[in-house]
Amino acid sequence: MAVPHSIAARVNKLRADIEQHNYHYYVLDRPLISDAEYDSLFRELQELEQQYPQIITPESPTQRVGAAPQTDFAQVTHRTPMLSLNNAFEEKEVAAFDKRVREALDAEALEYAAEPKLDGLAISLTYEKGLLASGATRGDGYTGEDVTANLRTVRAIPLKLRGTRQPELFEVRGEVLMLKTDFEQLNRRQREQEEKEFANPRNAAAGSLRQLDPHITATRRLAFFAYGIGGTDYGRLRKHSQVLDMLAERGFAVTAERKVVRGVEGMLDYYRALGAGREKLPFDIDGVVYKVNDLAAQNTLGFVSRAPRFAIAHKFPAEEAITVVEGIDVQVGRTGALTPVARLKPVFVGGVTVTNATLHNEDEVHRKDIRVGDTVVVRRAGDVIPEVVRVIAEKRSSHTRRFVMPGRCPVCGSVVRRSEDEAVARCSAGLFCPAQRKQALLHFASRRALDVEGLGDKLVEQLVDNQIVRTPADLYKLGIAKLAALERMAEKSARNLVAAIEKSKHTTLARFIYGLGIRNVGESTAQDLARCFGGIDRLAAADAETLQQVPDVGPVVAQSIAGFFAEPHNRKVIEQLLAAGVSFAETAPKQLDTSSPVYGKTFVLTGALPHLTRDEAQRRIRDHGGKVSGRVSKQTDYVVAGADPGGKYDKALELGVTILDEAGLLKLLD
Ligand code: IVH
Repeated sequence: MAVPHSIAARVNKLRADIEQHNYHYYVLDRPLISDAEYDSLFRELQELEQQYPQIITPESPTQRVGAAPQTDFAQVTHRTPMLSLNNAFEEKEVAAFDKRVREALDAEALEYAAEPKLDGLAISLTYEKGLLASGATRGDGYTGEDVTANLRTVRAIPLKLRGTRQPELFEVRGEVLMLKTDFEQLNRRQREQEEKEFANPRNAAAGSLRQLDPHITATRRLAFFAYGIGGTDYGRLRKHSQVLDMLAERGFAVTAERKVVRGVEGMLDYYRALGAGREKLPFDIDGVVYKVNDLAAQNTLGFVSRAPRFAIAHKFPAEEAITVVEGIDVQVGRTGALTPVARLKPVFVGGVTVTNATLHNEDEVHRKDIRVGDTVVVRRAGDVIPEVVRVIAEKRSSHTRRFVMPGRCPVCGSVVRRSEDEAVARCSAGLFCPAQRKQALLHFASRRALDVEGLGDKLVEQLVDNQIVRTPADLYKLGIAKLAALERMAEKSARNLVAAIEKSKHTTLARFIYGLGIRNVGESTAQDLARCFGGIDRLAAADAETLQQVPDVGPVVAQSIAGFFAEPHNRKVIEQLLAAGVSFAETAPKQLDTSSPVYGKTFVLTGALPHLTRDEAQRRIRDHGGKVSGRVSKQTDYVVAGADPGGKYDKALELGVTILDEAGLLKLLD
């Protein structure tokens, strides 16, 4: 059956459009149409191809998946070997590399192309007359495995090179990897289907690429970034950075983080900046790669054994390491929460020596089944607190025992309770538990609360253990002599501390409320409570229902507040604090009008308003029960824009958030 001309034309148009959308979505990461629109184009093409099978070509976007499962992968010999890179771990090794290169080239300062070192799998793609002909893994560098059918399912790999003039033969080298978000989604799916989870995105990418059935690979969402070409036929190009630009023009994703830098300083600045932003990148990297940018110079430098002399990988400290759990301690927090903490055999990870890692709560310990004596993987990424990722099951000895949360508080021996709806177990003794008392005092004295400078944890420890201080009110009874008698306390520091305590007496109602350490009352809730009630007595007298009139105070928070003030002990401490001279201005209570159009709404302010100052506008919004946030999101109800608004204005337009001018705001506040 002949294919009508109009059909052939439509099919060509659909293919070109779909490839264009693939390119925008998978390579540029800037889709032009919705998923639904894309799906509809794809379906139309599939239907036409079903009707006229003779029109199908291997380059049709519908043909990415479809190859039959294989029994094994064929071996392929690389036209030019896929070599490895020498590693540098320290700055001085980078300096030595630069020195070697400069001496060999007899050059002063050199330009380097700096790139992230992607933590995936190296592959080579061969294009014949512009069409993807084959793709192979690196293997031993000389021969790899033919994984063409699997690579064809990777949407970021063009089946056809962009551009009009197609070279006879074109070989692209780069890294296949899995983005962090796709990795998490894959593991979630594996969990749901009770399949084995992957340890990290790299393993997930490797496992997906080595599937014998390309249909499975197709479900795995792999990404591809190009970082070079095979061989040394660069045509008119003079620099590696131009090679990368050319690859981008040919339709490949090239990392946006690539940069041309100068000399050792330039390389190290790049390394530090990328290291600091590493967590925020969409993919895992294990270092950076520096390549002499000048291609002729690369050629002069050549190779030593299996690595180029013109490039080096500067590795980041490993974020994961293996160590042993020597014990599981249970710590008691300010609100009595018991937190299991793994005591670890010291291990160097993420650039520091780690000796313990929080295990969060009992459920978490059981979920990961972490036991004393276990060999575990610990992770410390960036400034994030170290965590135990998993137990290495094969290394468990037969004598380990499952962790059990103690039934009694390890500090005061009181009963531990765990309510149904909470993952945390708590010591039931409240402020009678010395651990909680210490934390409560530290919180009371913290910078955002009463701000007593110089009252650190060592001191609080002594004050509580020696029964000198039991409640925050006792702080105001401390004299210089008593303090100076403590260990490691000189008369001068005692004097300073007494002065700091004295100074803390002049405070605000909001700080005072926050400092009380009522469970679920953070700084911003404390501010709202202060504004609405205006005085501590009115707050103490409010019932749960009245409390819920305050924006953001729901039943749980209201219950914590009412519960706190119902405790005679807490009321007594407040009385004592006031008697000791702690003071703050009281204001008239604000009856919030819950019918105000501002009540419960979130505002973002940007640009200068003609009459109201930023503070004034904020105060008036809050007085009406509205919230003011610094960031525009889907949760934002209004953006109030003045003169020269910033990016927040654009974001509001993008998200379709209502934009007001000052007059519009005043009308709402009226
Ligand atoms: S260039 C001749 N650039 O690192 C050297 N490699 O140890 C060719 N890698 O197997 C490699 N990111 O998988 C180069 N931006 C990058 C890279 C990179 C990751 C991997 C690659 C290679 C290994 C070399």
